[in-house]
Formats: sequence, structure tokens, C-alpha cells
Amino acid sequence: MDSPEPLDSLLHEERVFRPLPQMIIEAGINPQDLIAARARADSDLCSYWEEAAEELDWFTKWDQVLDDSNAPNYKWFTGARCNIVYNALDRHIETVNKNRLALIWEGEPGDSRQFTYYELYRAVNKFANGLRSLGVTKGDRVVLYMPQLPETVISMLACARIGAVHSLVFSGFSAKNLRERIREIQPRVVVTVDGFYRNGQVIRLKEAVDSALLDNPSEKLESVVVVHRANVEVAMDSARDYWYEDIVRHERAHAAAEIMDSSDPLFILHTSGTAGKPKGIIHSHGGYMVGVHRTFKWVFDLKPTDIFWCSADPGWITGHSYLVYGPLLAGTTTVMYEGHALYPQADRLWNIISKYGVSIFYTSPTQIRTLMRFGHRYPDQHDLSTLRILGAVGEPFNPEAWIWLYENIGKSQCPVLDTWWQTETGMIMISPMPVSVLKPGSVTRALPGVDADVVNLKGEPVPAGKGGFLVIKKPWPAMFSAVLNDDRALVDHYWGIIPGMFYAGDVARKDEDGYFWIQGRADDVLNIAGHRIGSAEVESALTGHHDIAEAVVIGVPDKIKGEVAKAFVTLIYDAVESDELHKELIDHIHRELGTIVAVKSIEFCDELPKTSSGKVKRMALKEREGL
Ligand code: WT7
Repeated sequence: MDSPEPLDSLLHEERVFRPLPQMIIEAGINPQDLIAARARADSDLCSYWEEAAEELDWFTKWDQVLDDSNAPNYKWFTGARCNIVYNALDRHIETVNKNRLALIWEGEPGDSRQFTYYELYRAVNKFANGLRSLGVTKGDRVVLYMPQLPETVISMLACARIGAVHSLVFSGFSAKNLRERIREIQPRVVVTVDGFYRNGQVIRLKEAVDSALLDNPSEKLESVVVVHRANVEVAMDSARDYWYEDIVRHERAHAAAEIMDSSDPLFILHTSGTAGKPKGIIHSHGGYMVGVHRTFKWVFDLKPTDIFWCSADPGWITGHSYLVYGPLLAGTTTVMYEGHALYPQADRLWNIISKYGVSIFYTSPTQIRTLMRFGHRYPDQHDLSTLRILGAVGEPFNPEAWIWLYENIGKSQCPVLDTWWQTETGMIMISPMPVSVLKPGSVTRALPGVDADVVNLKGEPVPAGKGGFLVIKKPWPAMFSAVLNDDRALVDHYWGIIPGMFYAGDVARKDEDGYFWIQGRADDVLNIAGHRIGSAEVESALTGHHDIAEAVVIGVPDKIKGEVAKAFVTLIYDAVESDELHKELIDHIHRELGTIVAVKSIEFCDELPKTSSGKVKRMALKEREGL
């Protein structure tokens, strides 16, 4: 992008929500604490994160908090020895948390399983011993091709406990995708399930594993472990395949946690591929544990009585950091749901919240927009009064969906925390806390210990109100340590684009209060007659119209203006498509953003193409347009 100021900002959201007095009284971190924490982190980043590290258990403490001598290969807590699973389980077994619920799981057909910390600890140790008996040792890789099941959590923790590197491959991916990942990762073991329930169907995962493994894409692969879930018939290769039950049956419920270097790899996780070819992002034990623990406890203002539900799949970073590791590190009860949000009908999520008394619900804008289409009659049928905090991540949160969530689910009592972060950052970076003043559509400010800014390509800060590139100017503990099989990526894709800063690939602006507004991926910026406009702004204007549920906007070439906008929308349940509505929507965009947003057309769709993590596939729409 050649222009020093890459973006025009057109959308202005004026609504402001102040925290309820009760929220401030009860908050673990009140507004003064937050100011003090920011000041301390600004003056001494290392001492801020060192103090956060002191809250966890280490086998050996660090020689240095941050080694930046070989930037951008930053190393956190050098010389320290630890194991994230020791902190997620063993630490709690010594305390009152021992008998507290660690995991509540609900299957799509309505079955439910629950594990106390002690029960989870025993299950993890048994499988850790089982993996050891299959020959898995420190540094080996294990691919988990698994849906939302307790055994998925158990497998992740069992790997980490013995120093093996886990790599979850999202269960919605095809055999072809899985094969590609196995080729890249070269695992010694693959763990999977016979099948699982999704939208009333049984999805057969073991079958996909068999076809992915034809003529062995991993030279190291020795065994496949299969969990029983749907009890469908599967082919078992007697030289390679084992039932999970047989592996754990005779194992002891104690397994020593491997002593890991802080910088030893913990997991490999591929980005969702909204921004080009998925990259295998590598995170390590020490820094990740510190960053995720601190941000989980602070952002969600954890209380001992909380029941926390993150509705993301564990196959994405949100699931890794805030469904599995964050809650368990903090000794919280975490909820997991196997199935589809609309099964058997559109109130399933509200039903789960009331059934288990969920107090913190962390979800995505796309999920909210999907559920909004059904109006408030479904949430109105359930008791949602246990909720105290709502959160979202993944995409720009358009103000209309934000307000819908705030009013219809939170009943205007729960703050909505729009959290910005990435697979690469490992932890939440820019986000309000429950005591923050909220503006719908803004991710507010960077957390203490995170130095975020909006700059031009030369790295100079752009003035308030102007758009630019989102960067992180200083390292943070949960940062990824490397990209799988790509040594140059750290510089080429992240730290070398604007030298000395982490380039996030998003465009954003800061307002006069220093609040961040994310405007989408830098690759998705429209250029209409020389005006650079974030596609998220046009999408947000469209979803601000009462008939629109979801919208996605792409640029299409235009002889005169260079590029014009083309929109694809889905309507809410009682709206009807018509030529009048088409015209009204174009007028609406012009009213909201100005007539410089030239619109070619708006296409009404039943559904928008989504990535498996629920983000709209702009590329697919561009391809459909022949672009
Ligand atoms: C990209 C990272 C972190 C978990 C989910 C996705 C977009 C993320 C927000 C937000 C606007 C957001 C960005 C970012 N994104 N959170 N609150 N507001 N956009 O992880 O697949 O690594 O994607 O998701 O574009 O760069 P990911």
C-alpha cells in the first residue's frame, strides 16, 4: 500500500456505555488499578510480566524475563523450567479446587459429562502414560483430529504433560486437509474419534483419518488412537490402530510432568487462512502460560463462583487459550458443547447458559449475527440471569449486533467485551475490561503490558481519527515463537514489514480517547475513486439497517472509480427482498457513510460462504465475481 495514510474513516459511532456501579464495586481490578498497572507496564514492561509470572508455579525460575538480544526471535523467561499442565492441574489438586468442576461438557444429543479437577488430572495422567507406552517422548508431535469432546482436552493436556507438541486439526476439515497437515507436521501419533454429532448427523472422523493416511504422509507415524463417541463401525488396522479405552485401561493415574524449558514448543496451530495460506504457528510453554493466565483472569474479572463458556472450537486459538488453558490455569469451570448452535432449534446456546448457570459467555460476532436473525423470542424463553460478562472475538463487531447482544442476552446488565487478538498473539491484546467505558464496535484500549498503535508504513503514528496499520511495538509473553517449516516468516510476514514492529495485517483507527476501531484486514481495503475504505465500515453500515442480519462487501473493478463496492447480505427472519429494499439499502449506505461509497449492487443471499471458523470467505465471493 503506497499511501502513507491508508484509510478514510467514515463511520462514527456515538453511543457510550458506562460500567454499572456494582461492576466497579465488585471488580478485582478497578479503574484505578488499571491505570496503575498501565503506568507500571509502560515504565517497566519486564517487571509487569515478571509479577504476572510469579502467580504461577515454576520448577526453576528464570535468569532473564525477556531476552531481546536476537530480535525478532524474542525469548521469554529464559533459563526457567516449567510445565503448563502442572499449573493447569497439579497446582489445583493441592487446594480447594481439587473437587471443583473443571469441565462441563454437553453432547449434541443432550448427554452430559462433568470432570472435577481431580478427575481431569487422573484422566490426563492415564492418557499421558498411555502415550508414553506408545513410544511418544518429549519433542514428538501428535496430531489431534478431534471435535468438541472431553477427550480432546484430555489429549491436549496429556501431550503437553509429557512434553509432546500437540497440533489440533479442526474436525470440520476434510481428509485432504488433514493429510496436508500430517505431511507438514510429521506426527508420531494421530488421535481421533469414531464419529461425532453435528447438526443431527454423525460425522465419521476415523474414516477420514484412514483416507488421509493412505501411503503414509508422515514417516514418523506409528499409531492411531480412536476414542469411542458415536459408536459407528470403523475399520481398525491391527498394526496401527488402538482404542483409547484399551490404551488407558491399565495405566496409573499418576504421571510425572516433563520438566520443560520455558521456550520448548507446546503446540502448533494453523491460522484460519483468512489471510492467505494457513501458517503453522508455534507457541511455547512459559510465555504462553503467563500471558494467557493473566489476560484470562483480568479481562473476564474471574470470581471463584464463575462458570465460563467459550463457544469456540478447540481447533482454533480461541479454544486453545480460553476454552482449555486459560480457564484451567485459573482453576475455573469451563463449559464445552459438542454440536451446532441451531440444533435442534435456534435456542440451544441460551438453553445451555440457563442449564449450567453460565456467568461468562465468550463468543463471536458471526455467531451473534446468526442468532439475531431469529429475533428475541428464543432468548426470552430462557433464564439468562446468571450471566455477568459477555465477550466476543474474531471479526469486527458491528454496533448493531453488539447492541443486540447487550440488550437481549445481557439484559443491559453485562458488559460486552470485544477482544482483539490473533493466533500469533496467543492471548487477548486489545480489549476492554468489565470496568471500562464501552463504545459498541470498538475494542477500546490495549491491555496493560501490550504496546499497540496505529501507524503508517513508515512506522509513524497517524493522528486520531485517521486509519492506518495496527502494530504491536513491544514483545509480549504469549507471542508465537516461530512458523512451522518457514524460518523467514517471522521477518517476512510480521516484523520486517514495518521494521521493529509486529505487523498484525489489520487496518484500524484510534479515536480521540485513544480507543481502537478495527476496520478489517489490510488486504480487504476498498479503493473507491482514491478513497480507501475498510470493508468492515460498509458492512457495519449495512448491518445497521433493521432488515439485514449479515453483510459482506468486496471491491469490484470500475472503469471510472477504479473500484466500487459490491455487497452480499442475508436478511433477518421476517424481512423480504425487493427492489425497493435494494434501493433503500444503497440510500442507507450513503446516509451513513456518504456518497463516496459507490455501490455496484447488493445481492440477497440465503447464506454467506464461511470459513470453518465462521469468518466470511471474501475470496470465495471474489472468485464468484470472476475476480
Ligand atoms: C484476525 C485473527 C483470536 C481469535 C480468533 C481469530 C480478526 C480478531 C477481532 C476483533 C475485529 C478481529 C483480525 C485478526 N479479529 N478479533 N475483536 N475485532 N477483528 O484468530 O484466525 O488468527 O484471526 O481476526 O482481522 O487479525 P485468527
